[in-house]
Amino acid sequence: MKPPNHPKQPGRSRGRARGLAGGLAAALAAVTAAAVGLAMPAQAASTLKASAEARGRYFGTALTRGDLGNGTLTNLAAAEFDMVTPGNEMKWDATEPSRGSFNFGSGDQIVSFAQSHGMRVRGHTLVWHAQLPAWVTGVQLNQIQSVMENHITTEATHYKGKVYSWDVVNEPYNEDGTLRQDVFYKAMGANYIANALRAAHAADPNAKLYINDYNIEGINAKSNALYSLAQSLLSQGVPLHGIGLESHFVVGQVPSSLQANMQRFADLGLDVAVTEIDDRIPMPADSSELQQQGADYGKVVNACLAVSRCVGVSQWGVDDGHSWIPGTFPGYGAAMMWDSGYKPKPAYTAALNALNSGTSSPSASSSPSSSPSASPSRSPIGGACSATIKTVNSWGGGFQSEVTVQAGSAPVNGWTVKWTWPGGQTISSLWNGTQSVSGSSVTVRNASYNGSLAAGASATFGFTANGSAATPALTCASP
Ligand code: XIL
Repeated sequence: MKPPNHPKQPGRSRGRARGLAGGLAAALAAVTAAAVGLAMPAQAASTLKASAEARGRYFGTALTRGDLGNGTLTNLAAAEFDMVTPGNEMKWDATEPSRGSFNFGSGDQIVSFAQSHGMRVRGHTLVWHAQLPAWVTGVQLNQIQSVMENHITTEATHYKGKVYSWDVVNEPYNEDGTLRQDVFYKAMGANYIANALRAAHAADPNAKLYINDYNIEGINAKSNALYSLAQSLLSQGVPLHGIGLESHFVVGQVPSSLQANMQRFADLGLDVAVTEIDDRIPMPADSSELQQQGADYGKVVNACLAVSRCVGVSQWGVDDGHSWIPGTFPGYGAAMMWDSGYKPKPAYTAALNALNSGTSSPSASSSPSSSPSASPSRSPIGGACSATIKTVNSWGGGFQSEVTVQAGSAPVNGWTVKWTWPGGQTISSLWNGTQSVSGSSVTVRNASYNGSLAAGASATFGFTANGSAATPALTCASP
């Protein structure tokens, strides 16, 4: 009998540039392909990060402060990954070990390692029932909200501008889809999640804010509950931007509904990310298990590439010698893409091959600057708002687009985007906005929850349409 897919309580103990002509030709091909909405094969690359970037994704790893002293490990991490999640250093027990007394030293070391190697940072994590210092659970319940908001505000302000995203709330669910009865729930009920997201957004308006959990990779009671919560938070205008699928898998057990599950969250207008993948094997691992592990990693990468809003994949560590798995799941190990001698395993080859082969839909949002997608059409800048349209997917007879509406130098309270279809296109489904259509003219107004934008802030809406992909000129006005 395999143990459950996660411990109840994690144990604490333990190329240079191409020639100009070639580059131009490739750029032109990319622009043409994006303009007509074709999925593009990526150029083969020899590292996870280069290959992921060519797909508009990132590939990340978790690093601890202890890892930073290991030259072999950090060289490998810097060569292969472009995103870092601190393994423990931004958790509550590390950052506010006693009430009101903050310590960001270890987290800062991870951030400066990332910055000096051109890597971005996923902040992890602001509110979690585990690795929570005992003093928090000793606080009177009527003070918990202010303790929580003070923790979030102080930490997110400290890292403002330095993190790409925050796992604002970590692991809020029980396996049956009920919320854990932790101290935050006891004090505020389910509202603690909205309160936490709002506090994080106020402190760092540019960070992508996530709810992160495990055993939500497939469609099941737990992910269904999170899906309903996400819908409800978005409908109330709560700043939720992404869902983190931890992905602590057992070899051979990647759920078959992974891609469909990612897609349903993406269809709400959320980013999705694989945030902590590892794939553990009962020890000792034999070669067929290592091959199966490769198939598992390939399947996860392919699912992410197939979902335009899947922004990236992060492994929870680098090599088998430094993974948390053996200490937390006795009898299991070998869960990483490199073995304890830093030799790449079949999983590494499979992940890289998946990134390098086939086609994918360009990442629709939050992609690194090297994203190959776009050929966006932008409305004139300088008014109350501007709007940009891009094709994120297309197929015979239809396509999917995403429109980003951005407020100008002043806040807007409501927005209206208009365009005219050039070739008889018709919208089949539109989300995060309300449409009215007259012949070939389309008007989209904000939904009830995304009309108010601070100066420079943006909202997105999306749609699927019939006909050939087009990027018409847009106008944006407020309201
Ligand atoms: C783990 C760390 O890797 C361990 O060092 C620590 O003892 C326990 O936590 N889900 C999460 C991560 O969100 O923060 C956990 O990290 C692994 C499970």
